[in-house]
Amino acid sequence: ARILIVCSEAVPLVKTGGLADVITSLARTLRRRGIDATVMMPGYPAALEQARNLEEAGLLADLPGGPGRLLHGMMPDQDIPVLLLRTAGFERRISNPYVDERGEEFPDNASCFGALAHAAVAVCRGQTSLAPPHVVHANDWHAGLIPALLRLHRVADVGTLFTIHNLAFQGNFPVDCAAGLGIPQQMLGPDGMEFWGKLSFLKAGIRYADRISTVSDTYAAEILTPRFGHGMDGLLNERRNALLAIRNGVDTEAWNPAGDALIARSFTLSDLRGKSSCKRELQTLFELPPDPFAPILAMGSRITHQKMADVALASLPAVLQRYPRAQLIVLGRGDRTYEQDFVRLAQDFPERAAVHIGYDEMRAHALHAGADMLLHGSRFEPFGLTPLYSMHYGTIPIASRVGGIVDTVVDAGLSGLPPQDASGILFDGEAADGMTAAVSRAFALYENPAEWHPMQCNAMSADFSWSQPAEKYIAAYRDIAAHAVKELF
Ligand code: ADP
Ligand code: GLC
Repeated sequence: ARILIVCSEAVPLVKTGGLADVITSLARTLRRRGIDATVMMPGYPAALEQARNLEEAGLLADLPGGPGRLLHGMMPDQDIPVLLLRTAGFERRISNPYVDERGEEFPDNASCFGALAHAAVAVCRGQTSLAPPHVVHANDWHAGLIPALLRLHRVADVGTLFTIHNLAFQGNFPVDCAAGLGIPQQMLGPDGMEFWGKLSFLKAGIRYADRISTVSDTYAAEILTPRFGHGMDGLLNERRNALLAIRNGVDTEAWNPAGDALIARSFTLSDLRGKSSCKRELQTLFELPPDPFAPILAMGSRITHQKMADVALASLPAVLQRYPRAQLIVLGRGDRTYEQDFVRLAQDFPERAAVHIGYDEMRAHALHAGADMLLHGSRFEPFGLTPLYSMHYGTIPIASRVGGIVDTVVDAGLSGLPPQDASGILFDGEAADGMTAAVSRAFALYENPAEWHPMQCNAMSADFSWSQPAEKYIAAYRDIAAHAVKELF
């Protein structure tokens, strides 16, 4: 069967978060299982530069925002076909796909991602040189208009799956964009894609897709409640019979301590000596004293409100004061003010805390491999790849008890003997005290190898590969396609 996976990011072409990791490893796993998966995404300059063997696949004269060209090629170093939509708008997105250098949203996001949806629909309608897919797998708001447009154009033989990776990013735009996006009045009511007076790409995806999925069981349940629903819980409850939970997987080739070209020395569960080298290397990289006994607490994620940057900033000074030997290492990029606060925190604790503001794959690997613990607070977490990456390297996550984290990290609890299968420490709520208590618990466990080592073993042997989720996606595609076309699989 042919599956067109439409999204805004995929490693290594463009990445701002976990979505990019997920798309590429899902596509690769599907292809290894004989599914003809193609990734379709914007032709950002970085994507056009890196994709291989690009060939013209169709000229699309009247997309929102101007004409576009579809280019068909391959992902670098991967056996994954990719379709890039080249438009003037996407070509302006040089560093970040969504915001300019000052962090402001690009004013043409609606027309750019509207164009992506129209181009996908053109592929589905056989208006390009490519064979139409049997199912379009649309991801996040960037691809949210596709299910709506397919209905509008009565494309009955292509099914749709809409996956929610993050309900907080909604793609809400002024309703007067509608005409330019080819959205008729009848789809603009509250039972269509209208959302608090705006036109919502996310709502369009949820409303019109054949099936909706999200990336963990716990998040699938949470988003049906007002606390986590971001205003979409009503509609999601209406559509709950169409809602599936398929957890993400980890790319075990890229995140593997036994064979990671980006770390100082490889290591395994049965021989952790390499981890000490990675620790020393990490301390050197971040210019901290190379103390092998200093517990290293790391953070590596988007520095945003979702990731509780504010709470960490409130908790960490107390942690560093209470544990004079501990070292803190932060790698991240995000909201300017939080970034500056982290830089200041590092200045307040010289030789103890180091911060690198930036997006850096090599440093991310060094961080997961060399640290002892990963602090990962989240107000909500659809899945949360980062704590799982750290676990693969025997780095114990200290994380919020929300979303995918609940399904993947086994809590050691705040006191007493950790359960036999513990692989991390979880905390509740958004208060600095809760976070501080969880970090203190981690330091206490770290002091006692008889408790720490089994946790490292559990963390390193946890299996969150792609095989099971890929099977679930295939079953979902089959089910969706069965309603449209027969005998595909
Ligand atoms: P989210 O998608 O919400 O950001 P995830 O934990 O699922 O959260 O995925 C985040 C991804 O982005 C991981 O691959 C993580 O390593 C990566 N990442 C985040 N910040 C950085 C950074 N500053 N440098 C390198 N990689 C980063
Ligand atoms: C989102 C979520 C994250 C998830 C990722 C991939 O960005 O915030 O939890 O892992 O998407 O699905």
